[in-house]
Amino acid sequence: FKILVINGPNLNMLGKREPDKYGVKTLAQITGELNDAAAALNVELAHFQSNSEAALIEHIHDAWQQFDSIIINPAAFTHTSVALRDALLSVDIPFFEVHLSNIHQREPFRHHSYFSDVAQGVICGFGAMGYHFALQAAVNRLQNSN
Ligand code: DQA
Repeated sequence: FKILVINGPNLNMLGKREPDKYGVKTLAQITGELNDAAAALNVELAHFQSNSEAALIEHIHDAWQQFDSIIINPAAFTHTSVALRDALLSVDIPFFEVHLSNIHQREPFRHHSYFSDVAQGVICGFGAMGYHFALQAAVNRLQNSN
């Protein structure tokens, strides 16, 4: 299986950025650990991070028929972007939504997600472990559907 992992704006700052909320691991550490887990599951991962909504949308378009599943942390675009939601629906690739922090415990403007009602699953509040849970869930789902 091929799974695309997408991280949205400001997640390139992980490690430095509000470590009380997002942890001390850098995005490179998180993706490295995820690659190790994927290798053990015999799954191929591709990673993309951007601070640009347009770049994220175009990358999702390029995923058309290239990936079996997507794991995405849309970051702040979670709460704002109909366009990113529509991009995911347009390529018709099942996706899991991940947030490091528990968005429901935070400011009211973070409680709504434009992705959750069309995601296969939503994981939040587990820090970097959330990406691993999503990977396991995605692989499980793919194995059971084939
Ligand atoms: C986040 C939560 C969002 O509200 C925030 O804008 C982020 C990160 C998380 O992973 O907890 O940038 O998606």
